[in-house]
Amino acid sequence: MRTAADFNLYYATPDPWHISHARFRDKVLRRRLKPFIRDKSVLELGCGEGHLTQTTFSKARSVVGIDISDVAITRAKSLGLPNARFECADFLQASFEGYDVIAALECVYFLSFEEQGAFLEKVAKEHPDKILLLSGPIVDYRRHFSHKRLMHEFTTLGFTPLKFFNLSVYWYPPSSRIIAGLIKLPLGHTLLDWIPESMIYQRLYALRAPKRH
Ligand SMILES: C[S@@+](CC[C@H](N)C(=O)[O-])C[C@H]1O[C@@H](n2cnc3c(N)ncnc32)[C@H](O)[C@@H]1O
Repeated sequence: MRTAADFNLYYATPDPWHISHARFRDKVLRRRLKPFIRDKSVLELGCGEGHLTQTTFSKARSVVGIDISDVAITRAKSLGLPNARFECADFLQASFEGYDVIAALECVYFLSFEEQGAFLEKVAKEHPDKILLLSGPIVDYRRHFSHKRLMHEFTTLGFTPLKFFNLSVYWYPPSSRIIAGLIKLPLGHTLLDWIPESMIYQRLYALRAPKRH
């Protein structure tokens, strides 16, 4: 796992991953997440500077955003979002109890494979029979997630995959940039889930955690 100091280095300048420019991802996430989060209490893990809290989780009844970087959390707090509060913590150490939904968007892949397993076990234990929303790159080349490995991990630990949605098209090979451009046209996003898996960069999973034994 990377440390708070590592992530604070990323946050030496605001918006290190250019998240605020990813308007297409915001649009797709808003549409896909809305039915799961509307009027719910949400625990948003790895919330960073609160960009998604503001653009995507505004329909939630309440949001608690957690990030390991105190620099990012200070910026998130300065947004003054009426439905959200923010805490600086390592989410592997935070309590997951008492929320309707846990959202872990683009943050679990920073964990080692062992930590990813421990994370899912923690969700199963502290958030039984409830919704987990998880996203990340599913390209295998950097040993990030792969769809196959994730589905194996989910089902082995008793999670029920409810739905998955594609979020973005991978920029390699260069020819796929044409597709990436096309889906950004009006209504292009409706084609996202029809694009072959080999061309997909990020995917969102909606899962139900196993019931308490
Ligand atoms: C790529 S950013 C994603 C931010 C936001 N979720 C999004 O999708 O726009 C990953 C965030 O996860 C946070 N993070 C990574 N590991 C963490 C951990 N163990 N506990 C809390 N936050 C963590 C990082 O500090 C960073 O802000």
